[in-house]
Amino acid sequence: MIDTMWTPELLEGPAPKFRALADAIGRAIASGGLAPGDQLPPVRDLAWRLKISPGAVARGYKLAIERGQLSAGVGRGTFVRASDAPEAAGPRPAGPDSAPPAPPHASWLEMANNCVPEVGQDAEIRKAMIKLASDPRSALRLTTYGGRDWDFAERETYARWISEVAGMEASPDRLIITSGAQQALHIALRTAVPTRDGVVLTGVLSHPGFVEMTTMLGLRTEPVAMDDQGVIPAAFDEACRRHSPDAIILTPTYHNPTASVLPVRRRVEISAIAQARGVAVIEDDVYGWLESSHPPHFAQLYPEGSYYIAGISKCLAAGLRVGGLIAPQHKAAAAARCLRVLNYHTSTPMTALLAEMISSGAADRILRAVRAEAAARAVLARETLGQWGLRAPDAANFAWLPLGAKWRSNDFAMRALNAGVRVAVDESYCLPRHAAPDHLRGVRLAFGPAPDREILAEGLGRLKSILQEGPAASAMIS
Ligand SMILES: Cc1ncc(COP(=O)(O)O)c(C=O)c1O
Repeated sequence: MIDTMWTPELLEGPAPKFRALADAIGRAIASGGLAPGDQLPPVRDLAWRLKISPGAVARGYKLAIERGQLSAGVGRGTFVRASDAPEAAGPRPAGPDSAPPAPPHASWLEMANNCVPEVGQDAEIRKAMIKLASDPRSALRLTTYGGRDWDFAERETYARWISEVAGMEASPDRLIITSGAQQALHIALRTAVPTRDGVVLTGVLSHPGFVEMTTMLGLRTEPVAMDDQGVIPAAFDEACRRHSPDAIILTPTYHNPTASVLPVRRRVEISAIAQARGVAVIEDDVYGWLESSHPPHFAQLYPEGSYYIAGISKCLAAGLRVGGLIAPQHKAAAAARCLRVLNYHTSTPMTALLAEMISSGAADRILRAVRAEAAARAVLARETLGQWGLRAPDAANFAWLPLGAKWRSNDFAMRALNAGVRVAVDESYCLPRHAAPDHLRGVRLAFGPAPDREILAEGLGRLKSILQEGPAASAMIS
């Protein structure tokens, strides 16, 4: 595929421009922004676009060729190198979290796309669809607009399920059914943050969907320092002092990508700081539903300033595109208005389908099966990679592999790609113009896309071999 319009984003920092360009090429290949066979822009074009010298671009390309990422031929141009194993490249992904899984193949293993494992959802969803479609009394409302006056029964069912699964009382009056957690985030930001000069904080590594959303909305996004337990309360307080933010976005349970769980004490401290400083907390709990114990939610600790985001993509099925938002009481009407402006309402058949699956017990059956499968996969991962400090909580469905100071994560990801395994690198989770701090260098491994545990074990084994071999001398961080 020809992609001569690709323009890399160079991280600011002490590294010379040519090295920053080679790193950006590695990042783009690892995250799927560039695919094997893509053509790089001509040196002069890219130099002009990046406002750097043609010499720096040429040196950057040369370094990427030395790293085995690009290939060049006289008069042909510069291309992303195809992997030695032809099938290792796999299909071109759309992004680290949204890419469709690669087809199961003996030698290609997808571990970047963070989806839920297949545990029989398909059959359960089809059954619920057939039941709804064949019952003339079902509330599909296919030819009229639905909305707030009409979906009370579905909201009541969904709110009851949130109360049970998330361990938090949810009122149907304040619940908005959205098209996925990503739309709930959009509405929360629109409701909590002014459109002009709005400032949002989030962890120094964050789900790319957060940053893409805040950037698209024209909001300034600032990072908050994290350690292996998540966002550090004192760093949040300091960031509030420096940036006067309107909101902070957090994923307290199974933070994406580090899989950390924010301890209860930190939740309490962060709530108190947010309350004292009048900062809204947007809690994204898409992974929290995989966990059967329930640490307190921000909506319980700081109800007047917290937005709770629910989702089913990580515990049931992403394709249904259903999620939920519970806004603070005094913001509930504004949030409902926002949904109306964006979308009128969420698809009535999808809303009815989720309600049907909750009422029939199918949603609970799937959730139990996903939790059990996630736990088995986590055990497998810890057995294989535990000695390298893998953080693989029982229910998360993904794990964080710290690479520390020894490896460049892009080099590890390229080695993995050449071995037929696609992983997600730390830099895909960095805020614009920020790099991953040393203690948060690593890659995220998603366990969901593997069709079965045997194939997952095969992929984990390949990563183990790479770790055992260690970084090539030229790729080591000096
Ligand atoms: C932290 C987090 N929030 C939200 C989403 C998107 O959820 P949904 O599919 O419900 O929009 C993702 C997807 O990867 C995610 O990792």
